[in-house]
Amino acid sequence: MDAIALAEHALGVPQLILAVPPRLPDGFEAALEPLVRRREAREPLQHIVGFAAFRHLSVRVQAGVFLPRPETEVVAQAAVDEVRRLSAGGVEPLVVDVCTGSGVIALSVAVEVPRSRVVAVDIDPASVGLAKANADLVLPGAATDAAVRIEVGDVAEPGLLAEFDGAVDVLIGNPPYIPDDGIPLEHEVADHDPATALFGGGADGLDLPRHVVAAAVRLLRPGGLFVMEHADVQGETVRDLIDRTGAFEPAVTHRDLTGRDRFVLARRRPT
Ligand SMILES: C[S@@+](CC[C@H](N)C(=O)[O-])C[C@H]1O[C@@H](n2cnc3c(N)ncnc32)[C@H](O)[C@@H]1O
Repeated sequence: MDAIALAEHALGVPQLILAVPPRLPDGFEAALEPLVRRREAREPLQHIVGFAAFRHLSVRVQAGVFLPRPETEVVAQAAVDEVRRLSAGGVEPLVVDVCTGSGVIALSVAVEVPRSRVVAVDIDPASVGLAKANADLVLPGAATDAAVRIEVGDVAEPGLLAEFDGAVDVLIGNPPYIPDDGIPLEHEVADHDPATALFGGGADGLDLPRHVVAAAVRLLRPGGLFVMEHADVQGETVRDLIDRTGAFEPAVTHRDLTGRDRFVLARRRPT
């Protein structure tokens, strides 16, 4: 897969169909060789070719900003389904994506359910800049017509987006959740994803996710849906910390396409 993607990049073609090989231009090998060397050195494919695929989108990536992952596509699906259901009922759903990174969750919702309003925040200005650039790429004009708003924001800040308290239909987040001592083994992750995107804080890695839960309690309207990604070993702990707030119907863990626990859904109770 990676070799084909690098050859496509070197050739400047969107899709290489090997059954009908293209005539290789002069200089192809010289162009391909350094790309292969970078990948051999475990630089992520997405950084070499400059984009990442996520659901229906192809977005830009940037050194120092978290690369979107395939498992998060399933997490985003839960938000898309809920927003689509609400939109079909005639409302214009309000969605908040905390910890937006490159913006892929927020932008997937906005692109797949055009009658929605999406607000996305991230603590990292570089991520916010990239998410805005991606919004311009996949939804030109969305920022100006207020369908998508992306800004710097700290999910641990008690007054974050206070103007939407109790009014949000869906709050989704893929916060950092790796424990302090859980240094990732893959070079692609350890050497390229920023630490602020990986480590959730605390021995269990759940300090940041706890702040996301608190933000969901405050921001969601009664009946609003909370969606949060977590590590495959955190399902029970995350359900427990949500249920202990008393603010939600019982939390339910869902799996990703590899069958691992990956995200939680919980519906906000009326206060
Ligand atoms: C695991 S990445 C997820 C990015 C994107 N949502 C995705 O799924 O590809 C976590 C993101 O949370 C951001 N982040 C870390 N601490 C934060 C905080 N206190 N408030 C808001 N965002 C934060 C990081 O900058 C990073 O972009």
